[in-house]
Amino acid sequence: MILSKNNIDLMKPFKFRMPKEVIFESGCSCLAPEKALQLGSERPLFITGKNMAKSKNLAGLMDKSSELGMNPGHWGKVEPEPPVELLEKAVEYIIRGNYDCLIALGGGSSMDFAKMAAVMAKNREIKAGDMVGSEKIPQKGLPTIMIPTTSGSGSEVSAVAVFSFSEEKMKKGISSRFLVADIALVDPELTLDLPPDITAASGMDALVHGVEAFLSLGTNPFTQDLALIAISKISANLAECVLNGKNLGAREAQSYGSMIAGMAFSMSGTAGVHAMAYPLGGQYHVPHGEANTALLRWVMEYNLEGCEEKFIPIAKAMGVYEPSMSDC
Ligand SMILES: [Fe+2]
Repeated sequence: MILSKNNIDLMKPFKFRMPKEVIFESGCSCLAPEKALQLGSERPLFITGKNMAKSKNLAGLMDKSSELGMNPGHWGKVEPEPPVELLEKAVEYIIRGNYDCLIALGGGSSMDFAKMAAVMAKNREIKAGDMVGSEKIPQKGLPTIMIPTTSGSGSEVSAVAVFSFSEEKMKKGISSRFLVADIALVDPELTLDLPPDITAASGMDALVHGVEAFLSLGTNPFTQDLALIAISKISANLAECVLNGKNLGAREAQSYGSMIAGMAFSMSGTAGVHAMAYPLGGQYHVPHGEANTALLRWVMEYNLEGCEEKFIPIAKAMGVYEPSMSDC
């Protein structure tokens, strides 16, 4: 608690970092080419994984970019839980091709990858490993546009990117104001075809973002408010998204919850579940959402002893609160 000179409780200070523009609307991903144009791009590069590389969505966005007079390109080699070594190859491609704006179309791996590649293309004197931690990126990178196709990482609005460092068999996070995208286009329609297993794993990642943003020692009243909204939306809609993936209303609510959770943890940081999930990803390549899911119960049981009262608003947000819980 912070006290003023007059012993009045003061709100814990916080800073809020967000993309300059966030559009949340089914169908809005088609705006990416004109948004790239508004950012001054003549040669945008779409960044995807291997599956998205064959998608009609990508082909449509590339065609529209050409129609608007730009000369777009595509780099489609992002791997899940991307190894940091792959960044160098992408950056060489970006520089050789004279690309001036990166547009990520994909899940958290593709978005993290594009955000960091954009930074490295403008910060050639420093290696990615030296930027691990908080605010170690010297200057802003190329402009970026994020188009999430899953509802989990929150990378479209966060100031964070996570990579696998294969030599150390570790995953490490890079956090910087220069990793906040310029524009996020959150289009829930893009998640309608996600298979149940990916929907579940990425959705649980988002739920853990909300829970850890609320419990983290770095939290503040603003992130706590955001976190409870995220927990509420995800708890009410994730199962429906898994069981009935074509339910656009549920998909919209899940995309919204995931985005809000991303805003929350981008400020507060995450906590024990993520800290323990990173070695599982780095050493054994357990997908991030699955590692979080496996650890959540055990870390929460441990946390319960230290901050029991904080679990009441979480239970309320999840719709499972009963007054007898307060007496435990
Ligand atoms: Fe996560």
